[in-house]
Amino acid sequence: MPAPTPFSLPPLPYAEDALSPVISANTLSFHYGKHHKTYVETLNKLIKGTEYESSSLEAIIADTAGNADKAPIFNNAAQTWNHTFYWNCLKKNGGGKPTGSLGQKIESDLGGYDNFKKELTTACVSQFGSGWGWLVSTGGKLKIVKTANAEVPLVNGQTPLLTVDVWEHAYYLDYQNRRADYVEAVIDKLLNWGFAEQNLANA
Ligand code: FE2
Repeated sequence: MPAPTPFSLPPLPYAEDALSPVISANTLSFHYGKHHKTYVETLNKLIKGTEYESSSLEAIIADTAGNADKAPIFNNAAQTWNHTFYWNCLKKNGGGKPTGSLGQKIESDLGGYDNFKKELTTACVSQFGSGWGWLVSTGGKLKIVKTANAEVPLVNGQTPLLTVDVWEHAYYLDYQNRRADYVEAVIDKLLNWGFAEQNLANA
C-alpha cells in the first residue's frame, strides 16, 4: 500500500479575487495555485521514504535548517510553511493602525505605527533578491526582520506575527518592478492584525 501523502495544500482563507485590486486574482491564482502548490508537492516527493515522512512541517524545518545536504527539503518545507502563514496575514479591508495590546506593543517596542510601517517597508524593499519581511516577537519584544529566499524566523527562535512575501512572484504581475508600491499597499490595505494578535497570544 503506498504511503499517504504527508502534506496537502491548505485551502486559501478567501476567494482568489478577495484581495483585488491590491493583489489581483491572477497573481493569487499563480502564487497559490502554482508556486505554493509546487512547494508542497516537491516537499512530498523529497521526504518520501525518508525519516521526515511522518514529521510535522515545523520539525522538518528545525531539523534541516543550516544543513547544506538537506537544503532542498528545508527550502520546500519552509516555503510551504511561509506561504500558508502569508495567506493568513492578509485579508480584504485589512491594514491600518492596530488597536489593543498589539497596538500598545507597537508603540512601546517599535516607536509607534508610523515607525513600524517605515521599518517593515525598509526591510521589504532592501531585501536583495527574493525573501520576506516580518514582524516577529523575540524575547518578549516586537522586532522587524527580513529573511532571504525560504529562510524563516522560527529557526532563530523568533515567533512570526506577520509577513510580507517579497519574492517577485508575489507582485510582478500587478506591480512589475515596483516592489515598494506593493509593500505599501499590502501594509495599508491587507494586513490581518487579528491574525497577528493570535500569534502574539500564542508566542
Ligand atoms: Fe511566494
